[in-house]
Amino acid sequence: MAMSEFDKLIDRRGTDCVKYDNLYENFGRKDILPMWVADMDFQSPPAVLAAARQCCDHGIFGYTFRSAEGKDAFRAWVQKRYQWEVDPSWISSSPGIVTALSLSVRIFTAPGDKVLIQTPVYPPFHAVVKDNGRELVCSPLKRGAMRYEVDWENFEQALQGGVKMFILCNSHNPVGRVWTREELLRMGQLCCRYDVMIVSDEIHADLALYGNVHTVMASVSEEIAARTLTAMAPSKTFNIAGMMNSLIIASNPEIRERYNRELTSLHLDLGNIFGHVTLKAAYREGGEWLGELLHYLEGNIDFAMDYFSRELPAVKVFKPEGSFLLWLDFNDTGLSHEECGERLLKIGKIGLNDGLTFGEEGRGFRRMNIGCPRSVLEEGLKRIKAAF
Ligand SMILES: Cc1ncc(COP(=O)(O)O)c(C=O)c1O
Repeated sequence: MAMSEFDKLIDRRGTDCVKYDNLYENFGRKDILPMWVADMDFQSPPAVLAAARQCCDHGIFGYTFRSAEGKDAFRAWVQKRYQWEVDPSWISSSPGIVTALSLSVRIFTAPGDKVLIQTPVYPPFHAVVKDNGRELVCSPLKRGAMRYEVDWENFEQALQGGVKMFILCNSHNPVGRVWTREELLRMGQLCCRYDVMIVSDEIHADLALYGNVHTVMASVSEEIAARTLTAMAPSKTFNIAGMMNSLIIASNPEIRERYNRELTSLHLDLGNIFGHVTLKAAYREGGEWLGELLHYLEGNIDFAMDYFSRELPAVKVFKPEGSFLLWLDFNDTGLSHEECGERLLKIGKIGLNDGLTFGEEGRGFRRMNIGCPRSVLEEGLKRIKAAF
């Protein structure tokens, strides 16, 4: 098979990256293969690299701002991909998406208010609620044979219990669901019925796989859009998370103005020059590269699914509908959560995310990042096998 750009091995050690250079702090040892934090081991698209180089070669890194061209590149991207019509005046910003989640909790809820999340879910969803002194309400997802579903009964019960805000993970990390329009409509309508604000984290939007179609929650109906703040970014899609540049969108002027007031009062709105030039290049010119990336990721997932079913059938894998994260269930190995963790680290020498950090539903689970060259994935799978 012909080599792909994505097969290229690039040494990331010594580049101040969390994934490789922070291993000791996170795992207590350095001699492990990192397949954890959600960035990829691929270079960004050529157009993004060229934009960063051009900016660097210019050599002056003065104050910057969010230009109309950058907003327009994003507007055109979401219009083409999601048929979502965004007026440029609706577009605000945040350094990272998690910053925006935390700001939203602070702005739109009061201390002690209830905030709903669907567990298991990305650990900062828990933290932005608890660390801001709000009450965390969890609606556990229902685990089916092939995929996770919303548990409609507990979801509605939670909303009835006086929840003020629902933080949606669309698509869902770690269970890999790309929520359908029907599911989003039902979640959204329930939020309308119980007067609950929606903060929709759509950072993984562009990474829908296998023909699954991403739907923007705020595009489902005007009524839902009016209570929704959407968070998107080029960070996962184009592997530029270190640029810390995200887009926050609200069609409702009241939501927008309250968010913007807080953002500017903290001087978080200007951003950094590399973030702006790479965002613009990515949304303008990154479409073709993204198509190739998605194809490669599907190949990696197929490869891993096949490996697990042949070599480690006790490990149940939920085939993701989007993104580059595998949610692995080790419960049938007969070992405890802690024993599995020890084996993976000490025998397999592989660094995966601990399922419990996503909520109690993650007991016995680990999350594996397959956004890497296939040879690295193969090595990781062999290490998991060696651990059991
Ligand atoms: C659902 C979700 N939201 C947010 C983030 C992180 O966003 P940021 O680094 O922009 O704060 C991640 C990273 O894995 C994620 O999976």
